[in-house]
Amino acid sequence: MKPTKFPASLSLLILILFLSSCIEQQAPTIPALEKSGNVTRLIVDGKPFLVLGGELHNSSSSSREYMKKFWPQLRASGMNTVLAAVEWSLVEPEEGKFDFSMVDGLIQDARSYDLRLILLWFGSWKNGQSHYNPEWMKSDFKRFPRITAENGRSLEILTPLSKENLDADSRAYAALMKHIREFDPDHRTVIMMQVENEVGILGSPRDHGELANTAFNSPVPQELMNYLTSNKDSLLPETVQLWSVSDFKTSGTWEEVFGKSEKCDEIFTSWHYAHYLNEIVKAGKAEYPIPMFVNAWIVQAADKRPGDYPSGGPQAHNLDVWKAGAPDMDLYCPDIYRPEFRELCALYTRNNNQLFIPEARAGELGAGQFFYSVGRHNSIGYSPFGFETRTTEVENDPMTNAYKLASSIAPLILKAQEEGAITAVLLNNEMPVSEEVILGDYKFLVEQGRARRSEQASQEGYCIIISLHKDEFIIYGNSVQVSFSPATEGPAIAGISRVDEGRYENGLWKPGRRLNGDDIMLDYDLAKKALENKTGTGLRFGPGNELIQRVKLYRYE
Ligand code: DGJ
Repeated sequence: MKPTKFPASLSLLILILFLSSCIEQQAPTIPALEKSGNVTRLIVDGKPFLVLGGELHNSSSSSREYMKKFWPQLRASGMNTVLAAVEWSLVEPEEGKFDFSMVDGLIQDARSYDLRLILLWFGSWKNGQSHYNPEWMKSDFKRFPRITAENGRSLEILTPLSKENLDADSRAYAALMKHIREFDPDHRTVIMMQVENEVGILGSPRDHGELANTAFNSPVPQELMNYLTSNKDSLLPETVQLWSVSDFKTSGTWEEVFGKSEKCDEIFTSWHYAHYLNEIVKAGKAEYPIPMFVNAWIVQAADKRPGDYPSGGPQAHNLDVWKAGAPDMDLYCPDIYRPEFRELCALYTRNNNQLFIPEARAGELGAGQFFYSVGRHNSIGYSPFGFETRTTEVENDPMTNAYKLASSIAPLILKAQEEGAITAVLLNNEMPVSEEVILGDYKFLVEQGRARRSEQASQEGYCIIISLHKDEFIIYGNSVQVSFSPATEGPAIAGISRVDEGRYENGLWKPGRRLNGDDIMLDYDLAKKALENKTGTGLRFGPGNELIQRVKLYRYE
């Protein structure tokens, strides 16, 4: 029988359908960190990902029922990632017997609301304390020893010097990572892990137990000495200062190398926490190697000595020792509730650390801090604490507006971070009322917004600036005004060629009003401006602003 053409095209069609279904069925790649240019990107489903996060209160994730009412509003808040605790005592109620049902519930619920998860392993320590470890551990304090304070009292804090403690925690964490890998292979809902929470000793600069005293009077480990000597030229000033006390001795006991001080106690403590957490990270990554980070309780204004804040934690001044002791840790992250937000971001980008902020404030201040961290320090994300119980209505919440706007331009932000084509300014009453930044060929003077018509002046002003082309920028801001001047050789005056307000929808720019006249005049004192080579024009962003302005500049003289 003569074959017809039909079966051939049909088989081609079947082949295409088969191949495309194979492609569709392929599991997404494992979340990873990838260095690109000056930044480290978080890669999720094969693409750079900006974490628009929110952390739940400590106990919320322990009950699936309790969380039920919060998921819809979390989804509606524009966020894409929930940070949620996994309590060790709940997943290993009996030694070696694991129950991951709370983890499974979290993953299923987050997935059904199209949200990602960053899980916080509340294992040996949470805010320095050992409250989340299982009961079978708590009661067996001989096998699982605690920290002894200077006065000889036992603290409710597991000692990082105990191998029993470390082995128990590593086994549980490895079991958790194995379970996540097996439970969620098709969706990769969990994109990063936080290992422990704000570790360090509250109440004493170092452990004075038997194990600790022996280690303290022994030579500083060779690994740490090697790290310090081979990185001597790039050590943080705080480390150099501490080490200089002994004129940079390369061997000896802790006090011989770093001098007899609370700082020496602290570096000893840092080393042991870093080492402990690194072993946990290694055990976890052996099962499922997604990015893992540690968060820091940072030094507070009233703190006088290590132990007032958790001594030996990953505070900015301890990061050399942490890098030496925890080479497998991916990120060191500050929890920032202090007003020196800008300074703290800068401290956590030293030593090539990639910024991510797992805990901070929400509200108008949070929105500004979010844009600042992302625009000025290439943060891979931001996450206000207690996100499920914010008191403001979800729709009117400044973080919701910020996250919705950020998701509409996330690809632009991520690309600009990689290309160095982004910056940001954060102003409030504790910070300067204006700042000039340079991006491409222009200087941008950002000043606190002046109240106009019925608008109330706000104390928190911020803006994020992205360069699209040589003379074209998108700027989003709140309670600020922005004016321009040239930053490079050429005609001395910068003016506005045109400016539109608008939004990005599905990646496309949708202009609204063309702004001109009163809407671009910031100052009619043109005689003074002329002396300064300025035009008096600029962009104005009111409080509660929801629109981007896309501006093209030009130069003349
Ligand atoms: C920092 C801790 O890491 C969180 O778990 C939580 O306790 C907040 N502080 C509360 O402000």
